[in-house]
Amino acid sequence: MKREIDEFEMKTVIGIGTAGSVYNAIEKSTQRPCAVKLLLPGLSDDANMVSRFEREMLILSKLDHPNIVQYYGGGKHDRRLFYVMEAVPGGTMTQMLKTHGKLTWQETIRYGIQLCSALQHAHNHGIVHRDIKPSNLFMTYQGDIKIGDFGIALDRGESDLTQSGMTVGSWLYMAPEQIRGASGITGQADLYALGCLLYELLAGRPPFTGEHFAEIFDQHLKDDPRPLEDLVPDCPQSLREIIVQLLHKDPYQRPHNARSVQGVMSELKLDWTDDESRYQLELNRLQLAFDSHSATVQGVSRDIPFKQLLPWVLLAIAAAVIATLLITP
Ligand SMILES: Nc1ncnc2c1ncn2[C@@H]1O[C@H](COP(=O)(O)OP(=O)(O)O)[C@@H](O)[C@H]1O
Ligand SMILES: [Mg+2]
Repeated sequence: MKREIDEFEMKTVIGIGTAGSVYNAIEKSTQRPCAVKLLLPGLSDDANMVSRFEREMLILSKLDHPNIVQYYGGGKHDRRLFYVMEAVPGGTMTQMLKTHGKLTWQETIRYGIQLCSALQHAHNHGIVHRDIKPSNLFMTYQGDIKIGDFGIALDRGESDLTQSGMTVGSWLYMAPEQIRGASGITGQADLYALGCLLYELLAGRPPFTGEHFAEIFDQHLKDDPRPLEDLVPDCPQSLREIIVQLLHKDPYQRPHNARSVQGVMSELKLDWTDDESRYQLELNRLQLAFDSHSATVQGVSRDIPFKQLLPWVLLAIAAAVIATLLITP
Protein backbone atom coordinates (compact mmCIF):
# COMPACT_ATOMS: atom_id res chain seq x y z
CA MET A 1 0.00 0.00 0.00
CA LYS A 2 1.38 3.43 -0.98
CA ARG A 3 1.68 5.85 1.91
CA GLU A 4 2.63 9.54 2.33
CA ILE A 5 4.80 10.58 5.26
CA ASP A 6 2.39 13.36 6.28
CA GLU A 7 -0.26 10.74 7.05
CA PHE A 8 1.84 10.17 10.15
CA GLU A 9 2.76 12.29 13.12
CA MET A 10 6.43 11.49 13.72
CA LYS A 11 7.48 11.25 17.34
CA THR A 12 10.77 10.14 18.87
CA VAL A 13 13.53 8.04 17.27
CA ILE A 14 13.45 4.46 18.61
CA GLY A 15 16.51 3.16 16.85
CA ILE A 16 19.12 4.11 14.27
CA GLY A 17 20.57 1.28 12.27
CA THR A 18 22.60 0.52 9.22
CA ALA A 19 19.96 1.45 6.68
CA GLY A 20 17.44 3.61 8.42
CA SER A 21 16.17 5.45 11.45
CA VAL A 22 13.10 4.03 13.14
CA TYR A 23 10.58 6.48 14.60
CA ASN A 24 7.62 6.14 16.89
CA ALA A 25 4.68 7.62 15.01
CA ILE A 26 0.90 7.96 15.07
CA GLU A 27 -1.26 7.34 12.02
CA LYS A 28 -3.29 10.56 11.99
CA SER A 29 -6.49 9.09 10.49
CA THR A 30 -6.81 6.27 13.02
CA GLN A 31 -4.64 7.51 15.90
CA ARG A 32 -3.01 4.07 15.70
CA PRO A 33 0.57 3.96 17.02
CA CYS A 34 3.08 2.67 14.46
CA ALA A 35 6.78 2.63 13.68
CA VAL A 36 8.25 4.33 10.61
CA LYS A 37 11.60 3.24 9.17
CA LEU A 38 13.15 5.97 7.03
CA LEU A 39 16.20 5.35 4.85
CA LEU A 40 19.20 7.28 6.21
CA PRO A 41 19.64 10.64 4.41
CA GLY A 42 22.95 9.84 2.74
CA LEU A 43 21.82 6.52 1.31
CA SER A 44 19.28 7.60 -1.31
CA ASP A 45 22.06 7.69 -3.94
CA ASP A 46 23.44 4.30 -2.97
CA ALA A 47 21.73 1.99 -5.45
CA ASN A 48 22.58 -1.12 -3.47
CA MET A 49 21.15 0.25 -0.21
CA VAL A 50 18.04 1.51 -1.99
CA SER A 51 17.45 -1.92 -3.55
CA ARG A 52 17.98 -3.59 -0.20
CA PHE A 53 15.50 -1.26 1.48
CA GLU A 54 12.97 -1.93 -1.28
CA ARG A 55 13.58 -5.66 -0.87
CA GLU A 56 13.01 -5.34 2.89
CA MET A 57 9.66 -3.62 2.20
CA LEU A 58 8.63 -6.22 -0.34
CA ILE A 59 9.52 -9.11 1.95
CA LEU A 60 7.63 -7.64 4.93
CA SER A 61 4.61 -7.01 2.71
CA LYS A 62 4.52 -10.73 1.82
CA LEU A 63 4.38 -11.86 5.44
CA ASP A 64 1.39 -11.88 7.69
CA HIS A 65 1.90 -13.58 11.04
CA PRO A 66 1.17 -12.59 14.67
CA ASN A 67 4.86 -13.02 15.56
CA ILE A 68 6.26 -10.97 12.67
CA VAL A 69 5.98 -7.17 12.62
CA GLN A 70 3.03 -6.23 10.47
CA TYR A 71 3.68 -4.11 7.38
CA TYR A 72 1.39 -1.06 6.88
CA GLY A 73 2.76 0.18 3.53
CA GLY A 74 5.46 2.58 2.42
CA GLY A 75 6.53 5.34 0.06
CA LYS A 76 9.08 8.09 -0.52
CA HIS A 77 9.70 11.34 1.33
CA ASP A 78 12.16 13.81 -0.25
CA ARG A 79 13.67 10.94 -2.28
CA ARG A 80 14.05 8.94 0.94
CA LEU A 81 12.28 5.61 1.05
CA PHE A 82 10.27 4.86 4.16
CA TYR A 83 7.89 2.21 5.33
CA VAL A 84 5.39 1.94 8.14
CA MET A 85 4.89 -1.04 10.41
CA GLU A 86 3.24 -2.12 13.60
CA ALA A 87 4.87 -0.55 16.67
CA VAL A 88 6.06 -3.13 19.16
CA PRO A 89 6.43 -1.12 22.34
CA GLY A 90 8.13 -3.48 24.83
CA GLY A 91 11.73 -3.04 23.65
CA THR A 92 13.99 -5.69 22.14
CA MET A 93 14.96 -9.05 23.53
CA THR A 94 18.48 -7.66 24.09
CA GLN A 95 17.00 -5.16 26.52
CA MET A 96 14.87 -7.85 28.16
CA LEU A 97 17.91 -10.07 28.68
CA LYS A 98 19.81 -7.14 30.19
CA THR A 99 17.01 -6.51 32.67
CA HIS A 100 16.05 -10.09 33.55
CA GLY A 101 19.22 -12.04 32.88
CA LYS A 102 18.62 -15.58 31.69
CA LEU A 103 15.17 -17.11 31.43
CA THR A 104 13.64 -20.25 32.89
CA TRP A 105 13.11 -23.14 30.47
CA GLN A 106 9.37 -22.51 30.65
CA GLU A 107 9.82 -18.88 29.53
CA THR A 108 12.30 -20.03 26.89
CA ILE A 109 9.83 -22.41 25.27
CA ARG A 110 7.08 -19.81 25.44
CA TYR A 111 9.15 -17.52 23.18
CA GLY A 112 10.63 -20.46 21.29
CA ILE A 113 7.21 -21.68 20.17
CA GLN A 114 6.30 -18.21 18.88
CA LEU A 115 9.62 -17.85 17.05
CA CYS A 116 9.31 -21.26 15.39
CA SER A 117 5.80 -20.46 14.25
CA ALA A 118 7.00 -17.17 12.71
CA LEU A 119 10.07 -18.76 11.10
CA GLN A 120 7.97 -21.53 9.59
CA HIS A 121 5.67 -18.89 8.09
CA ALA A 122 8.63 -16.99 6.59
CA HIS A 123 10.26 -20.17 5.28
CA ASN A 124 6.96 -21.30 3.73
CA HIS A 125 7.06 -18.03 1.77
CA GLY A 126 10.63 -18.68 0.64
CA ILE A 127 12.06 -16.05 3.00
CA VAL A 128 15.19 -16.69 5.08
CA HIS A 129 15.71 -14.00 7.72
CA ARG A 130 19.49 -14.53 8.03
CA ASP A 131 19.82 -12.21 11.05
CA ILE A 132 17.89 -13.82 13.91
CA LYS A 133 19.37 -12.31 17.10
CA PRO A 134 18.01 -10.67 20.26
CA SER A 135 18.16 -7.09 18.92
CA ASN A 136 15.90 -8.05 15.98
CA LEU A 137 13.26 -9.59 18.24
CA PHE A 138 10.75 -7.08 19.54
CA MET A 139 8.65 -7.64 22.67
CA THR A 140 5.07 -6.66 23.43
CA TYR A 141 3.87 -5.76 26.91
CA GLN A 142 1.81 -8.96 26.86
CA GLY A 143 5.03 -10.97 26.81
CA ASP A 144 4.81 -11.93 23.14
CA ILE A 145 7.58 -11.65 20.63
CA LYS A 146 7.73 -10.40 17.03
CA ILE A 147 10.50 -10.88 14.51
CA GLY A 148 11.55 -7.61 12.86
CA ASP A 149 14.38 -6.25 10.71
CA PHE A 150 14.24 -8.23 7.50
CA GLY A 151 17.01 -5.92 6.25
CA ILE A 152 19.31 -8.70 5.05
CA ALA A 153 16.66 -11.35 4.54
CA LEU A 154 16.87 -13.51 1.48
CA ASP A 155 13.92 -14.08 -0.80
CA ARG A 156 14.77 -17.45 -2.27
CA GLY A 157 12.53 -16.77 -5.26
CA GLU A 158 14.66 -13.74 -6.23
CA SER A 159 18.34 -13.15 -6.88
CA ASP A 160 20.37 -12.32 -3.77
CA LEU A 161 21.32 -8.66 -3.42
CA THR A 162 24.41 -9.35 -1.36
CA GLN A 163 27.43 -10.25 -3.46
CA SER A 164 27.74 -14.00 -3.61
CA GLY A 165 30.26 -15.35 -1.15
CA MET A 166 29.71 -12.38 1.19
CA THR A 167 28.83 -13.28 4.77
CA VAL A 168 25.83 -11.50 6.20
CA GLY A 169 24.36 -11.78 9.68
CA SER A 170 25.69 -11.37 13.19
CA TRP A 171 28.74 -13.36 14.27
CA LEU A 172 27.32 -14.73 17.49
CA TYR A 173 24.37 -16.36 15.71
CA MET A 174 25.89 -17.14 12.33
CA ALA A 175 25.54 -20.61 10.86
CA PRO A 176 28.73 -22.32 9.62
CA GLU A 177 27.45 -22.28 6.03
CA GLN A 178 26.88 -18.50 6.29
CA ILE A 179 30.41 -18.06 7.63
CA ARG A 180 31.80 -20.02 4.70
CA GLY A 181 29.81 -17.77 2.37
CA ALA A 182 28.20 -20.83 0.85
CA SER A 183 25.62 -20.29 -1.85
CA GLY A 184 22.14 -21.73 -1.43
CA ILE A 185 21.54 -20.55 2.13
CA THR A 186 18.23 -21.98 3.33
CA GLY A 187 15.96 -21.74 6.35
CA GLN A 188 18.37 -24.13 8.09
CA ALA A 189 20.61 -21.08 8.72
CA ASP A 190 17.78 -19.45 10.69
CA LEU A 191 17.36 -22.69 12.63
CA TYR A 192 21.05 -22.55 13.62
CA ALA A 193 20.59 -18.94 14.82
CA LEU A 194 17.48 -20.07 16.70
CA GLY A 195 19.61 -22.74 18.41
CA CYS A 196 22.15 -20.07 19.48
CA LEU A 197 19.33 -17.89 20.74
CA LEU A 198 17.54 -20.61 22.74
CA TYR A 199 20.90 -21.61 24.26
CA GLU A 200 21.50 -17.99 25.26
CA LEU A 201 18.02 -17.58 26.78
CA LEU A 202 18.65 -20.61 29.00
CA ALA A 203 22.35 -20.20 29.78
CA GLY A 204 22.59 -16.40 29.88
CA ARG A 205 25.21 -16.35 27.11
CA PRO A 206 25.36 -17.57 23.52
CA PRO A 207 27.05 -20.94 22.85
CA PHE A 208 30.15 -19.36 21.28
CA THR A 209 31.69 -16.11 22.46
CA GLY A 210 35.08 -14.51 22.01
CA GLU A 211 37.11 -11.36 21.73
CA HIS A 212 36.90 -10.99 17.97
CA PHE A 213 35.03 -12.44 15.04
CA ALA A 214 37.77 -14.88 13.95
CA GLU A 215 37.68 -16.54 17.35
CA ILE A 216 33.88 -16.83 17.24
CA PHE A 217 33.84 -18.06 13.62
CA ASP A 218 36.33 -20.74 14.50
CA GLN A 219 34.09 -22.12 17.24
CA HIS A 220 30.98 -22.05 15.01
CA LEU A 221 32.92 -24.07 12.46
CA LYS A 222 34.64 -26.58 14.76
CA ASP A 223 33.63 -26.60 18.42
CA ASP A 224 30.84 -28.19 20.39
CA PRO A 225 29.16 -25.80 22.82
CA ARG A 226 29.48 -26.41 26.54
CA PRO A 227 26.72 -28.92 27.41
CA LEU A 228 23.57 -27.25 28.62
CA GLU A 229 23.15 -29.79 31.43
CA ASP A 230 26.23 -28.24 33.09
CA LEU A 231 24.74 -24.77 32.94
CA VAL A 232 21.00 -25.40 33.28
CA PRO A 233 20.53 -28.67 35.19
CA ASP A 234 16.73 -28.36 35.35
CA CYS A 235 16.32 -27.96 31.58
CA PRO A 236 14.28 -30.90 30.20
CA GLN A 237 16.28 -33.36 28.14
CA SER A 238 14.16 -33.00 25.00
CA LEU A 239 14.77 -29.24 24.95
CA ARG A 240 18.53 -29.72 25.41
CA GLU A 241 18.58 -32.29 22.64
CA ILE A 242 16.68 -30.18 20.14
CA ILE A 243 19.05 -27.26 20.81
CA VAL A 244 22.08 -29.50 20.19
CA GLN A 245 20.45 -30.61 16.95
CA LEU A 246 19.74 -27.00 15.91
CA LEU A 247 23.42 -26.22 16.46
CA HIS A 248 24.62 -28.99 14.16
CA LYS A 249 27.42 -27.83 11.85
CA ASP A 250 25.82 -29.60 8.92
CA PRO A 251 22.54 -27.92 7.88
CA TYR A 252 21.15 -31.27 6.74
CA GLN A 253 21.58 -32.75 10.21
CA ARG A 254 19.54 -29.99 11.84
CA PRO A 255 15.82 -30.50 12.50
CA HIS A 256 13.83 -30.75 9.32
CA ASN A 257 12.02 -27.46 9.83
CA ALA A 258 10.90 -24.92 12.44
CA ARG A 259 7.55 -26.67 12.83
CA SER A 260 9.20 -29.85 14.14
CA VAL A 261 11.15 -27.80 16.74
CA GLN A 262 7.91 -26.10 17.69
CA GLY A 263 6.37 -29.56 18.14
CA VAL A 264 9.01 -30.58 20.69
CA MET A 265 8.50 -27.40 22.66
CA SER A 266 4.71 -27.58 22.48
CA GLU A 267 4.82 -31.08 23.91
CA LEU A 268 6.91 -29.86 26.82
CA LYS A 269 4.47 -27.03 27.29
CA LEU A 270 1.58 -29.52 27.41
CA ASP A 271 3.25 -31.38 30.28
CA TRP A 272 4.01 -28.16 31.99
CA THR A 273 0.46 -26.83 31.51
CA ASP A 274 -0.68 -30.11 32.98
CA ASP A 275 1.50 -29.41 36.00
CA GLU A 276 0.17 -25.89 36.05
CA SER A 277 -3.45 -27.08 36.08
CA ARG A 278 -2.60 -29.61 38.77
CA TYR A 279 -0.96 -26.85 40.72
CA GLN A 280 -4.01 -24.66 40.14
CA LEU A 281 -6.30 -27.45 41.39
CA GLU A 282 -4.13 -27.80 44.45
CA LEU A 283 -4.29 -24.07 45.00
CA ASN A 284 -8.07 -24.10 44.63
CA ARG A 285 -8.30 -26.97 47.10
CA LEU A 286 -6.13 -25.06 49.57
CA GLN A 287 -8.17 -21.96 48.97
CA LEU A 288 -11.41 -23.88 49.66
CA ALA A 289 -9.93 -25.39 52.79
CA PHE A 290 -8.76 -21.98 53.90
CA ASP A 291 -12.17 -20.40 53.13
CA SER A 292 -14.14 -23.03 55.04
CA HIS A 293 -11.67 -22.81 57.91
CA SER A 294 -12.04 -19.04 58.09
CA ALA A 295 -15.83 -19.41 57.85
CA THR A 296 -15.82 -21.57 60.98
CA VAL A 297 -13.45 -19.26 62.77
CA GLN A 298 -14.97 -15.93 61.82
CA GLY A 299 -18.51 -17.05 61.20
CA VAL A 300 -19.48 -18.03 64.76
CA SER A 301 -21.68 -15.05 65.40
CA ARG A 302 -22.60 -14.55 61.73
CA ASP A 303 -23.15 -17.89 60.09
CA ILE A 304 -24.17 -20.49 62.69
CA PRO A 305 -27.84 -21.32 62.10
CA PHE A 306 -30.31 -20.34 64.78
CA LYS A 307 -31.37 -24.05 65.15
CA GLN A 308 -27.90 -24.87 66.44
CA LEU A 309 -27.95 -21.97 68.86
CA LEU A 310 -31.44 -22.67 70.28
CA PRO A 311 -30.41 -25.21 72.99
CA TRP A 312 -27.78 -22.79 74.24
CA VAL A 313 -30.26 -19.93 74.29
CA LEU A 314 -32.78 -22.04 76.24
CA LEU A 315 -30.05 -23.14 78.66
CA ALA A 316 -29.00 -19.53 79.20
CA ILE A 317 -32.64 -18.50 79.86
CA ALA A 318 -33.07 -21.44 82.29
CA ALA A 319 -29.86 -20.50 84.10
CA ALA A 320 -30.98 -16.89 84.32
CA VAL A 321 -34.41 -17.97 85.71
CA ILE A 322 -32.80 -20.31 88.29
CA ALA A 323 -30.31 -17.64 89.33
CA THR A 324 -33.11 -15.10 89.71
CA LEU A 325 -35.16 -17.53 91.85
CA LEU A 326 -32.14 -18.32 94.03
CA ILE A 327 -31.22 -14.75 94.78
CA THR A 328 -34.81 -13.59 95.29
CA PRO A 329 -35.46 -13.58 99.09
N1 LIG B 1 8.33 -2.12 14.66
C1 LIG B 1 9.12 -1.70 15.63
N2 LIG B 1 8.62 -1.46 16.85
C2 LIG B 1 9.44 -1.04 17.85
N3 LIG B 1 10.77 -0.84 17.72
C3 LIG B 1 11.32 -1.06 16.52
C4 LIG B 1 10.55 -1.51 15.42
N4 LIG B 1 11.38 -1.64 14.36
C5 LIG B 1 12.59 -1.32 14.79
N5 LIG B 1 12.59 -0.96 16.08
C6 LIG B 1 13.76 -0.51 16.89
O1 LIG B 1 14.74 0.05 16.03
C7 LIG B 1 15.96 -0.71 16.08
C8 LIG B 1 16.56 -0.79 14.68
O2 LIG B 1 15.65 -1.37 13.78
P1 LIG B 1 16.02 -2.56 12.83
O3 LIG B 1 14.83 -2.84 11.98
O4 LIG B 1 16.57 -3.68 13.65
O5 LIG B 1 17.12 -1.90 11.90
P2 LIG B 1 18.64 -2.17 11.65
O6 LIG B 1 18.73 -2.78 10.31
O7 LIG B 1 19.19 -0.82 11.64
O8 LIG B 1 19.18 -3.04 12.73
C9 LIG B 1 15.55 -2.06 16.67
O9 LIG B 1 16.59 -2.72 17.31
C10 LIG B 1 14.44 -1.67 17.61
O10 LIG B 1 14.98 -1.17 18.80
MG1 LIG C 1 18.41 -4.75 13.57
